[in-house]
Amino acid sequence: MSDILVIGSLNADLVVKSPRFPKPGETISGEDLQIIPGGKGANQAVAAARQGVSVAMVGRVGNDSFASFLVDNLKANQVDTKHVSETESATGTAIIVVDSSGQNSIVLSPGANGKVTAKDVDSAPDAKILLLQFEIPIETVLHAAKVYKSKGTKVILNPAPAKEISEELLSHVDILIPNESELSLLSKQQVTDIKSAEVAAKGLLKHGIETIIVTLGENGALIVDSKQVTHVNTYKVNVVDTTAAGDSFIGGFSSALLKNKSLEESVRYGCACGALATTKFGAQPSIPTKEEVEKFIS
Ligand code: RIB
Repeated sequence: MSDILVIGSLNADLVVKSPRFPKPGETISGEDLQIIPGGKGANQAVAAARQGVSVAMVGRVGNDSFASFLVDNLKANQVDTKHVSETESATGTAIIVVDSSGQNSIVLSPGANGKVTAKDVDSAPDAKILLLQFEIPIETVLHAAKVYKSKGTKVILNPAPAKEISEELLSHVDILIPNESELSLLSKQQVTDIKSAEVAAKGLLKHGIETIIVTLGENGALIVDSKQVTHVNTYKVNVVDTTAAGDSFIGGFSSALLKNKSLEESVRYGCACGALATTKFGAQPSIPTKEEVEKFIS
């Protein structure tokens, strides 16, 4: 059994830094193209593994040169890749533009990620925590949540990229971690600040979720459960690129929970991981190690 199992996506991120985002129909010049290991699933796996917990990944890559690039990088980060299989398809890619303020804009081409099935879930190892996102088919996410919840695994869902969630899926999730725009879609109300995040998250709790953690970027995170609402501040840093900050938060938060830290302490730890990830360029290269996080916090 591993501490954390991630069932999710692996992407080759094709990234260009640009002074600003192009308008529709406009062509602008950016810097040289960089190809960087990414994908929300793989990023969260690396983020947790860099905090020293054991992590296994279930997913699919294609039969092209990006496949070994992504799998080798997971292996180099001590992630167990026995359950990442190769499939007749292109490997998932993400076309990313990062502007001068470090914000990104992403278009996904799912490729092999779109072929992760219930069968992949059924042959996966047990774990204490399961991390799920929405870059693989939603039926597979539902199947995984159902199977692992019934085994007693803590199921954490990051509903990104934003998609509506069925009542059935919500009923198998222990902790939901949306950002503001994902929470807006799920709750069908505008989330623009801490107060509106609280109202929207409380509405979602009625659907049977135990805990919702709303990530609020530079405003930290909000923990909402049936007993309390707690706002956790984050750290002020110089932002270079926000890509994978949310993934870094989730990996760090989950690893802290496994080390028996309280929910609030774990969220604070996740915030440190997320903040540090924004200080470097790219997805997986920006994710901090345990030593970096401990030094930063102290
Ligand atoms: O969360 C960041 C990730 O989203 C990127 O690495 C990209 O692959 C997209 O999936």
